[in-house]
Amino acid sequence: MESLHYEESKDLDKDLYEAVSELEKICKSHDDVRLKLELDYKLAKASTSEGKREDKMNEFTCWDGERLIGYLGIDDFGGRSIEINGMVHPDYRRRGIFKELYARVKREWEKRTSDEMLLLADRKSEAGKSFIKGTGASYDHTEYEMILSDSLFEGTEKSTKGLLLREATGDDAREIARQNSIYFNEELADQELLDIDLEKKRGFHVYMALFRGNIIGKVHLHLINGEGGIFGLGIVPQWRGRGLGRDLLLLSVHKLKELGASYIFLQVDAENDTALGLYRSCGFEESYSMEYHKLNKER
Ligand SMILES: CC(C)(COP(=O)(O)OP(=O)(O)OC[C@H]1O[C@@H](n2cnc3c(N)ncnc32)[C@H](O)[C@@H]1OP(=O)(O)O)[C@@H](O)C(=O)NCCC(=O)NCCS
Repeated sequence: MESLHYEESKDLDKDLYEAVSELEKICKSHDDVRLKLELDYKLAKASTSEGKREDKMNEFTCWDGERLIGYLGIDDFGGRSIEINGMVHPDYRRRGIFKELYARVKREWEKRTSDEMLLLADRKSEAGKSFIKGTGASYDHTEYEMILSDSLFEGTEKSTKGLLLREATGDDAREIARQNSIYFNEELADQELLDIDLEKKRGFHVYMALFRGNIIGKVHLHLINGEGGIFGLGIVPQWRGRGLGRDLLLLSVHKLKELGASYIFLQVDAENDTALGLYRSCGFEESYSMEYHKLNKER
């Protein structure tokens, strides 16, 4: 006998992490689509946030008895938007389960200050895109995930221009916020100052890029379970066009390999031809496309 019930929680604990990962695996092989759930980051965040917990629900689940059959998670990176992504077990679809999870997430969003909600779906997921259409959200942009091909990487030009990486400290937090506002085209006032030490405990290492004594860019490197991620990579505008972005990318790859990464990925806006060209020229290849659809809060 089926007994469906819904639950909400603030953080992802180890048990929920296992259950969501299992459901993700089932959906991935059934639908051949990708999800962007950020489970490793959420787990690391939960275990390093004691005393800093906020009273916000982020994990929305549907259970049949003890079995997780639906999940919708909120990612809140501290900016003006929240991101949501989830799935329903193939045997339980078209019964309104995702609709109910979404209604709960929407109620949570109404309580928050963020005025944008980004709904994510793999470009190949017709069901996901139809669902999103029904929410009234409109298409915003697409991001590609790119994976480093070791054989292509081996064949790339490795000479560098003398760029150096320095691990960021608390004193760099303002500069990191300034650069993020440039790279993501967001207001500086909307940027949260990073707690560098806390980020490190969560597996995120931020490096400042130095060239001739100047800080000219930065990158965030993430390593978990042998998977290396490159995020927030950028060169400030006045130092662009001299091959320093390429240097920064190559150094990031070397650093991750040195730390033990056996797989390296990054995400890039599908319309950012400059970045796409750079990543391809260093041996990265597109693996999947994630569509972002945006909903603005009604005032
Ligand atoms: C997308 C997904 C989460 C929908 O879960 P679900 O519980 O079946 O969705 P619901 O029953 O709540 O459907 C709500 C509405 O979404 C739309 N929808 C859902 N599945 C659809 C499909 N296969 N084709 C067309 N429309 C679909 C419909 O408008 C539906 O309303 P209706 O049944 O009254 O017509 C599920 O198909 C899934 O897990 N897919 C793989 C992961 C994925 O793509 N996630 C992205 C989520 S945005």
